[in-house]
Amino acid sequence: MNDKIKLEKKLAAKEAVKHIKDKQIVGLGTGSTAYFAIAEIGEMVKNGLKINAIPTSAQTEEQAKSLNIPLISIDDVDKIDVTIDGTDEFDAKLNLIKGGGGALLKEKMVAKITKKQIIIADSSKKVEKLGAFKVPVEVLQFTSDYVCKRIEDFGGKGRIRRKDGNYFLTDEKNYIIDADFGLIENPYEVSDKLNNIEGVVCNGLFLDLADIVIIGNGEEIEIFER
Ligand code: 5RP
Repeated sequence: MNDKIKLEKKLAAKEAVKHIKDKQIVGLGTGSTAYFAIAEIGEMVKNGLKINAIPTSAQTEEQAKSLNIPLISIDDVDKIDVTIDGTDEFDAKLNLIKGGGGALLKEKMVAKITKKQIIIADSSKKVEKLGAFKVPVEVLQFTSDYVCKRIEDFGGKGRIRRKDGNYFLTDEKNYIIDADFGLIENPYEVSDKLNNIEGVVCNGLFLDLADIVIIGNGEEIEIFER
């Protein structure tokens, strides 16, 4: 990560944590941008902020525990007050592609029950149309070839994600298919089609879920609201 991108991520994270208030339930996203927000939240907790947080991945859970951020399970709550998470792309409608880090399932569960979903990013994540970043699709392992074929049936091209020579495994031991649809005209249609394939656990199109996107842009911040 170069210094410019790092600064932009940090600026966005610092701005986002201003939305957190005492006694709230807070969703903690995953990835290098969320990392900076969690670090800030750790400082706030150290200085007396009282919150309960819900992590979206094992990686985030580990960071939060190391900072003594009190954690609870998603099963303990019906609503989350505010969540801060990153994104791989966002468009003018604040629709997103997420899952570059493979945590899309818990990220989407948390986003769906969050009252104020704040997305933080560096300026490279803003796009006119979603789709240059391949859509991550989490699938049960034994269905991965089947799902790739069904993705091809409607014009996409799917590849099972690999890491260090092996198939990448999510926290839930599923595979990820990175699906290329080119630039996506209708993300709602693509999302519905993906969700209709047997074996698909979750897809990385986060539609109508973000309330605010905060990006660092050079040394400034930009805020987009729905
Ligand atoms: C993880 C995600 C991340 O939020 C997304 O990949 C952005 O990551 P980063 O902040 O490192 O650019 O969706 O599943």
